[in-house]
Amino acid sequence: MYNPVEINKDLFYVGVNDRSKHLFENLWPLPKGVSYNSYVIRDEKTALIDTVDIGFTDVFLNKLSVVLGDRPVDYLIINHMEPDHSGALTFLLNKYPNIQLVGNARTADMLEGFYNITENIVIIKDKEELSLGNNTLQFFLTPMVHWPETMMTYVKETKTIFAGDAFGTFGTLDGGVIDSQLNPDFYWDEMVRYYSNIVGKYGGPVQKALKKMADLEIETICPTHGPVWTEPENIERVISLYDKLSKYETEKGLVIAYGSMYGNTEQLAEAIAAEAAAKGVKNIVMHNMAKSHISYVLQDVFKYKALIIGSPTYDSKLYPAVQSLLNTLENKNLKNRYFGYFGGHSWAGTALRLLGEFADKMQFENVFNAVDMKQSMGEDIYKQAMTLGSTMAEKILSDDEIVPNKRGE
Ligand code: FEO
Repeated sequence: MYNPVEINKDLFYVGVNDRSKHLFENLWPLPKGVSYNSYVIRDEKTALIDTVDIGFTDVFLNKLSVVLGDRPVDYLIINHMEPDHSGALTFLLNKYPNIQLVGNARTADMLEGFYNITENIVIIKDKEELSLGNNTLQFFLTPMVHWPETMMTYVKETKTIFAGDAFGTFGTLDGGVIDSQLNPDFYWDEMVRYYSNIVGKYGGPVQKALKKMADLEIETICPTHGPVWTEPENIERVISLYDKLSKYETEKGLVIAYGSMYGNTEQLAEAIAAEAAAKGVKNIVMHNMAKSHISYVLQDVFKYKALIIGSPTYDSKLYPAVQSLLNTLENKNLKNRYFGYFGGHSWAGTALRLLGEFADKMQFENVFNAVDMKQSMGEDIYKQAMTLGSTMAEKILSDDEIVPNKRGE
């Protein structure tokens, strides 16, 4: 049984909630689950937009049957081929064998590669249109947001855009599906985490996609994860958030991420943070990399302008969890950060050199000399740590280009 959620005229939600999976892409924690959104337009012709993860095929097909009754699915619009959205495809084809699969040339390649499907494929080009009767679909190719075949589909009459993963969030839809039916507060941070974890590497392609959307009037955003956005202030907020994140713009704040075996390097982190706070930085987030999942560290690093990383030397290298953080930040193409670094060692200080090489490679602005501690913190090292904290605070607080956050900081 299913009481269909009607989003606007002819458009229904047929997505599902996943509260079982622990890790999205087997990488990113899902403490509040995730939804796989699918939508169906019931017009003279029927069009389904994306499917769901294979594990939810039964629930999905049942919802679809409730909305369509005995009518077939005429078109499946494939905005994205990643298996969390294409997983139910072969089961859908078993039920509706005459369905036309609509995608671009890259989609066709993946349909064959993933599912051995080569027939009933309609290949569309950028800005091509398809009429369902009262609803005209227009397709916008948005490659590398975050796969090469990704595209968006716009319904001209209802000003609705099916955006794929763009504007999506982690977190299930607990009752309400549309923003007007729920309290969206939970989803804002999860949208930043989703962006930084999944899409963050592709700031340039996201900017191109946003420019393509710029001339469209948008009254409803239907992403593949999380709430449907319909409230004007929410639509403005999600688009401006994506614009800001994809330009690597930030808020005034500092992330201190460190590794520490016995707490000595951690004491340096504490001294730096306390001094930055004393000088007026209110948004300071500290991550002990042995405990914080990198998913949340990325969320904060994408949010704030300043980053300080500390590590002891371990096996003549960096502390492994810190090395993993550096690898991820490099892979995500993080840009435009104020940077500082510190290290601890017992007899040979390799960590500091490696952190310095990282800062050079990333072209971060290094705000102060690295703080190098041998064995434990003496008065001189403590003062250096405080100076790193105060220098970073001055940089953050004097930067007028940092976007103010909602509190105006
Ligand atoms: Fe939600 Fe890129 O898949």
